[in-house]
Amino acid sequence: MAARLLIWIFTCLSRYDSNMTLPTLAGLKVRLCPKSAADARSDYRWQKDAELMALNGNEPLRESFLDYLTLSAADYGTANGMEMFAIRTLSENRHIGNCALYQLDHAAGEAQLGITLGERDCWGHGYGHDAMMTMVNYALESLGLVRLHLKTLENNDRARRCFEKCGFSPYGKLLHEGHQYILMELRAASMPSPAEDQAPGKMLS
Ligand SMILES: CC(C)(COP(=O)(O)OP(=O)(O)OC[C@H]1O[C@@H](n2cnc3c(N)ncnc32)[C@H](O)[C@@H]1OP(=O)(O)O)[C@@H](O)C(=O)NCCC(=O)NCCS
Repeated sequence: MAARLLIWIFTCLSRYDSNMTLPTLAGLKVRLCPKSAADARSDYRWQKDAELMALNGNEPLRESFLDYLTLSAADYGTANGMEMFAIRTLSENRHIGNCALYQLDHAAGEAQLGITLGERDCWGHGYGHDAMMTMVNYALESLGLVRLHLKTLENNDRARRCFEKCGFSPYGKLLHEGHQYILMELRAASMPSPAEDQAPGKMLS
């Protein structure tokens, strides 16, 4: 029984590693890495955090860690038009959050972008901006996308300011499950070409 439980846990954790085909991307303060099993504990802790989840209009997880592993295994692949990266600091290699492209549509050249810094002491130090710019440059330069979009709660001023700094502009509003969101977009045509030696988003592997 114990052995079967261990095998099951190992299987779930190894599926966390299922997107190792993604590159590692270099920013100026952070690097974006394919998700690994080592991220599971902090991901779970952040998703249990009601205050953090509320900043994106979501409910906290109620599941146990083992149930979470079963559910999350399906979330971290590159299937269903999603590319999920762990955000790690360059200075300490600390896992501080995640960011992802969702609804990746190569034909239309579009994707949705999402980000969460789970570690509160990292808010407001430019990590979010650097992670977003790294993703933006990867999406536009390497994937050839022409439009990125996201939604953020109307009252999430820090997030909105961060996204504006990255070049996103509001284009509409959305009322969803009682929450008022601002819709923001960034078009490749309106972005200046980054200088080659300074551009975050360069592939490390
Ligand atoms: C939103 C988030 C990604 C931003 O990353 P970050 O590293 O904290 O942001 P940055 O330091 O890059 O930029 C934040 C900007 O907002 C400003 N800011 C911080 N708090 C603010 C506030 N309460 N009101 C207005 N602006 C604020 C900062 O001064 C900075 O702008 P500046 O560089 O012009 O001074 C991060 O804080 C986070 O993940 N928070 C928790 C979850 C969340 O809100 N996710 C977003 C869901 S859409």
